[in-house]
Amino acid sequence: MTQTKHVHIFGIGSGIGKGLYDRFLQDPTVSLFGFSRKGELPLNTFSKGEAGTFQFDATDQKDLRSFELSLAGMFGHNVLPSAPFYNRPELIVYFALGDGIFGPIDLLKKKELESHFELNVHSLILLSKFYSHHIPFFPNKATFVFLGSTAGKQGFSESVTYCASKHAVLGITRALREEWKPFGTKVVHVSLGAVATEIWDSRPEFDKNEMVSISDISEYLWSISQLPKSIFVDDLSITPKKGIL
Ligand SMILES: NC(=O)c1ccc[n+]([C@@H]2O[C@H](COP(=O)([O-])OP(=O)(O)OC[C@H]3O[C@@H](n4cnc5c(N)ncnc54)[C@H](OP(=O)(O)O)[C@@H]3O)[C@@H](O)[C@H]2O)c1
Repeated sequence: MTQTKHVHIFGIGSGIGKGLYDRFLQDPTVSLFGFSRKGELPLNTFSKGEAGTFQFDATDQKDLRSFELSLAGMFGHNVLPSAPFYNRPELIVYFALGDGIFGPIDLLKKKELESHFELNVHSLILLSKFYSHHIPFFPNKATFVFLGSTAGKQGFSESVTYCASKHAVLGITRALREEWKPFGTKVVHVSLGAVATEIWDSRPEFDKNEMVSISDISEYLWSISQLPKSIFVDDLSITPKKGIL
């Protein structure tokens, strides 16, 4: 645990998560840990504390359990019994994983609904639960950034499931903010408008040229890690120039 800032990013295989991971690679002040189904290292090596990309499928129960154990191996107070709080690194976690599901509600399949919620909602709650065991040992030193959407605040046609899961992400952040307030933990909800990633590939009616670029959003999300200590940002809303496309 040599660096004073540990950054964990979930969903670095493509899109915003990949852009953000690449942005942090240019930041020599952090120890960087990326999680992806395409990660290079086995998940159980994460507890060694060496930076890298780790194989992780957020819908796989074994991976979730292995992540929970590795996190305890890295940060558990029984692992670092005598480490005073001020010796612990600052911890910044970004949740950039998720998928999109669009189409008229009458064509929605139960299996798609379940797997969308498993990835976009359940995995975020479970991962937050694993971190919460350690939050008391990071007083005023932890930040969690959840990538939400404008679909988490308003409705869009042919987007019932996506709107529901993104409204849930907003609910998760609001609840965690209250629950972790005693520990000075920052919980940031980022309400994103359209960003030009693969998530739009199945919707050619939307023009990627009108969207925020991956490199711009990555710069913006990286800057959250630079906020002064006393600044607590609850909710950030970003859109491309046109607003809602
Ligand atoms: N693009 C937009 O316009 C937009 C707008 C609002 C909100 N968002 C939100 O931003 C987040 C990222 O979206 P994106 O546009 O960057 O989409 P993307 O390019 O499709 O990336 C999705 C990410 O989710 C990860 N993922 C998918 N299934 C996973 C699994 N089973 N376990 C672990 N990770 C998994 C992928 O990681 P691996 O392949 O590495 O496993 C990938 O990096 C999503 O939550 C999305 O809803 C995007």
